Amino acid sequence: VVALTLADPAGADLPSWTPGAHIDLIMNGGVTRQYSLCGDVTDQGRWRIGVLRAPDSRGGSRFVHDTLSAGAAVRVRGPRNHFPLVSSPRYLFIAGGIGITPLLPMIAEADATGADWRLAYGGRSRATMAFLGELGRYGDRVRVFADDETGRIDLPGLLGEPQRGTAVYCCGPEGLLTAVEAGCAGWPPGSLHLERFSARARPAAAVEEERAFEVVLQRSGLKLQVPPGRSVFDVIQRAGVSVLGSCFEGVCGTCETAVLDGDVDHRDSILTGPERASNEFMMICVSRCRSARLTLDL
Ligand code: FES
Repeated sequence: VVALTLADPAGADLPSWTPGAHIDLIMNGGVTRQYSLCGDVTDQGRWRIGVLRAPDSRGGSRFVHDTLSAGAAVRVRGPRNHFPLVSSPRYLFIAGGIGITPLLPMIAEADATGADWRLAYGGRSRATMAFLGELGRYGDRVRVFADDETGRIDLPGLLGEPQRGTAVYCCGPEGLLTAVEAGCAGWPPGSLHLERFSARARPAAAVEEERAFEVVLQRSGLKLQVPPGRSVFDVIQRAGVSVLGSCFEGVCGTCETAVLDGDVDHRDSILTGPERASNEFMMICVSRCRSARLTLDL
């Protein structure tokens, strides 16, 4: 993992952010990746991100590790926050590997406000686990689960007994997120908050099972057909309407769009159950519509 510190080349203040926020880092060739801000929220002059060198890098981490050096110029977009820290008297933070990054500023805030908090941080070995040194100042609030020492995070021990008034925050690989979701099944609704770095595992809906629908762009006065196998985003963009996207797999939130009418078939990995049920917003890069017409505030 390499930590990058980003600053405005002219020394201007950077946009403010809150714990859980991420930015888009735009690499050479237009590849865009999302990274959580993991520095000090009160430092308006600098942002920090942590980038894992992924062995199966599709270009993002390889670019950061092999191409960037101190003083290099990069383009960024954001910040944006789909993983905000809710106010709670108690927090249980669970991190797997590089998933520690969004939790670092959350922990700093929880600690500063005097909340009761604990962190379980898992990884293959201490040598591969980023930011362990700076977590040392929190003493025994932090429990480290290194596979080669203690084994995996003790989820049954942490989650076995539902605790009212404890907010659980988890970020890490899909296997950990799925296990934590299962572990929190009996917890009070709304206790669990998690962030995915890659799309939620879901049975691939066969294109043959997808239905065409009409999308109405209220402000633009356009009516467009979305056929099976094409995304709402793609149809809208090709019609010449400006829409922003980044990950195109429903994890970053860049394409979030206000819904005015229609029964949305949410397929993203960001919105919570209540947010889906409210039908107010959708990620148009992946989500579709069950009803014949979808009306968007575009
Ligand atoms: Fe990332 Fe749609 S582009 S969620």
